[in-house]
Amino acid sequence: MFHPLRVREIERLTDDAVAVTFDVPPELRPAFRHTPGQHIALRRSVDGQEIRRTYSICTPATDEPLLRVGIRLVEDGAFSAYALKELRAGDTVDVMEPAGRFTLEPRPGHFVAIVGGSGITPVLSMAATLLARQPDARFCLIRSDRTAASTMFLEEVADLKDRYPQRFQLVHTLSREEQQAGLPSGRLDEERLRSLLPALLTVESVDGWFLCGPYGLVQGAERALRALKVPRGRIHEEIFHVDNGTATAPAVAAPAHSTVTATLDGRSGNWPVRDGESLLEAVLRNRADAPYACKGGVCGTCRAFLVSGEIRMDRNFALEAEEVDAGYVLACQSHPATEKVELDFDR
Ligand code: FES
Repeated sequence: MFHPLRVREIERLTDDAVAVTFDVPPELRPAFRHTPGQHIALRRSVDGQEIRRTYSICTPATDEPLLRVGIRLVEDGAFSAYALKELRAGDTVDVMEPAGRFTLEPRPGHFVAIVGGSGITPVLSMAATLLARQPDARFCLIRSDRTAASTMFLEEVADLKDRYPQRFQLVHTLSREEQQAGLPSGRLDEERLRSLLPALLTVESVDGWFLCGPYGLVQGAERALRALKVPRGRIHEEIFHVDNGTATAPAVAAPAHSTVTATLDGRSGNWPVRDGESLLEAVLRNRADAPYACKGGVCGTCRAFLVSGEIRMDRNFALEAEEVDAGYVLACQSHPATEKVELDFDR
């Protein structure tokens, strides 16, 4: 559900990134409480067309939510360009309540994040919340950026290091710059991680791995972890920026006429699915309140339970393997493979 929120502050993080903080009025605070790692969707209208983008919350999870997101300018980014160039304190933006399952609930243990670029945003919230709330927890952050000047949240991360010298470990690699000390420059790819991780920590004793950033980095890190025999259930991923055409499912003949039945907020409806459109698009034509943000298979906002029928998903960068096994699908990526398909967005 969207709420109009006032922008309290816009802070420049780097040449191409800002942090935007929103005021959350007392009556909306319960709705905007987040679990570390979650994101919010922001929406605006451009030339009569609604656009939505999701951004991760970078602040720790507390009872009095301080809602701040990191936004980096992306090429042709209709929302990020607006946020960097036009948005001002005092403006109002429609903000969706926090969502997402790339989360870390504070608990004792050893956790590691491998992030690239703006992938630091949700992980900053995870690390800060965990270290503040769990004296028995440790966190290791392995981050990769192009240059020091392009690194988001440098100060906030340095602050964690000062505050928790025994429990917070930081490895920072720069891909386009020589570093003065520590690791040599270069990309954090699969090969490098396979040798770096065992030298840095006891891989088998890590309770949870959080991979976040561009597609290539997350895939490389996952392959490295699998090669190091890390069980799949301990690896959590969130991908930012997927190129169109990456890893799409093979085309399957679709039935000539199909219908989707969808339950949303306790109300059900049944509608035809037009040739080539996704189940989300079919539902949205009839129910404007159907949940979505990226429409690209990345954010997971459109997750629904497949009650009956079969579907074909183009791509999935949001659902964990267990969620797919349990019957969840991304409506924005799903096309009917049977004449009747039934989805439940409430489960
Ligand atoms: S709307 Fe983002 S995954 Fe479907």
